[in-house]
Amino acid sequence: MKKVLSRRDWFKSTLALTAGVTLASSLTEHLMAAPMSEAERAYFDLGLGANQKVRLNSNENPYGPSEKAKKAVIESLTQGNRYAFNELEELKKLIAAKEGVDVKYVLMGAGSGELLCQTGIAYGLEGGRVLSAYPTFPLLMNYAQQMKANWDKVDLNDKLEHNYEALAAAIKSDTRLVFSCNPNNPTGTVVSDSIVRGFCQEASKKTLVYADEAYLEFLEPAQQKSMVNMVENNPNIVVSKTFSKIYGLAGLRIGYVIGHPDTLQKIAKYGDTISPSQTAIAAAKATLGDEDFMKLTREKNAIARNVLTNYLDQKKISYGKSLTNVVLFPAPKDGKKILSQLDEKGFLIRIWDYQSKEWCRVSIGTEAEMKNFVKAFDEVIA
Ligand SMILES: Cc1ncc(COP(=O)(O)O)c(C=O)c1O
Repeated sequence: MKKVLSRRDWFKSTLALTAGVTLASSLTEHLMAAPMSEAERAYFDLGLGANQKVRLNSNENPYGPSEKAKKAVIESLTQGNRYAFNELEELKKLIAAKEGVDVKYVLMGAGSGELLCQTGIAYGLEGGRVLSAYPTFPLLMNYAQQMKANWDKVDLNDKLEHNYEALAAAIKSDTRLVFSCNPNNPTGTVVSDSIVRGFCQEASKKTLVYADEAYLEFLEPAQQKSMVNMVENNPNIVVSKTFSKIYGLAGLRIGYVIGHPDTLQKIAKYGDTISPSQTAIAAAKATLGDEDFMKLTREKNAIARNVLTNYLDQKKISYGKSLTNVVLFPAPKDGKKILSQLDEKGFLIRIWDYQSKEWCRVSIGTEAEMKNFVKAFDEVIA
C-alpha cells in the first residue's frame, strides 16, 4: 500500500512540475490507478508526453465543464437513445426566462457557430454585401461569401477596438447584414454598451445587425450589457450567445440566438430543428446561470491573463486591452517560426494577418500554463 501511495505522490509531483502541460484529469486518474511501469517513468521524465500540447489557440475555458455539468451529462446518457425534443424545449424555456424574452425568440444550435453558419447562408443567399469589423470572428461572413455575397471589412481603431462610427458609415444600400462582436475575438477588446446600443439602433434601420456576445460573461456582472432587450420590438437585431466560453462546454456544442420569430424562421431554414445532443442540453441546463462557476472562471482567467499582459508590458509589446480569454499583439518575429518553435516547446497559439502584419493571438490558459508560456515565448523571440 505504501509503495502505491508513494508512486502516486511521485506521479502527482511530476505532474505539478511539468512545464505548463496539463493532462486531462481522466487520463491522469487512469494512469495513477495502475502501477507505474519503467517505460511510463522514462517517458514522463522526458517531458510528460511530447504530444500533449497546451492549447492556447481556441479560446477554450480550461476550468470547464463545471462539476454540475459533468454530473448532468453522465445522468443524461440513459436518454441517449431518445431524440431530445422535450429536453430542448425545457432548455429553451429556461433560456427565455433568463434572457427575459418569450420562448419563440430562442433558436438553439450545436454551438453558436452553427447559427452563424445558418445566418451566413440565409443572408448571403440574397447576394449583396455583409459587413463587419476586421479582424473579428469570421464564420458568418465566410458562409455568406460561399453564397456569393461580398464581405466588406472595416479596420479596428488604434486600440484594436471596433470602430462603430466607421462601421455605420460603411453600410451600403445593398448591405444585407452587419456583424458586431462585443467583446471581440481575436482581440478581447470591449466597446461601451452605449456606443454599441446606438449603433444597433441606427444600423438596424437599414440592415440586420447580428450582435455576437460569445464572451460577454467574462466581464464583471455589472458590466455585462447585452443587446438582448433591443430584440423584442426590432426584427432587425439578433443576439447570439454560447455555452462554449464562460461555461466551458465548447466540446459539447451548444449555443443560441435571440431574435424576432420571423427573423429566426429565416435563419432556422438552413439547419436542423434538433441539433443539440441530449448530453449538450443536459450540461447547458445544469450550468446556465451558474454564477459561482462563472465567477471562478472570470477570476482565474483574469489572474492568468495578467501573467501574459505583464510580460508584454515588460517587453514593451503593445496589445489590445482584453477583458476576455484572448489577447492579440503584433508578432515580434516571423509567424511561421513562432508557431513551429512554440509547437516544439508544447504550445499552440494562432497567427492572424492584419494590415500586412502578423499578429499573435494567444488564448488564456491556467496561471501555470501562462507562466510557462511566457517563458517559452521569450526564448522563441530571443
Ligand atoms: C466571437 C465568437 N462567436 C462565436 C464562436 C463560436 O463558438 P461556438 O460555436 O463554440 O458556440 C466563437 C468561437 O470561438 C467566437 O469566438
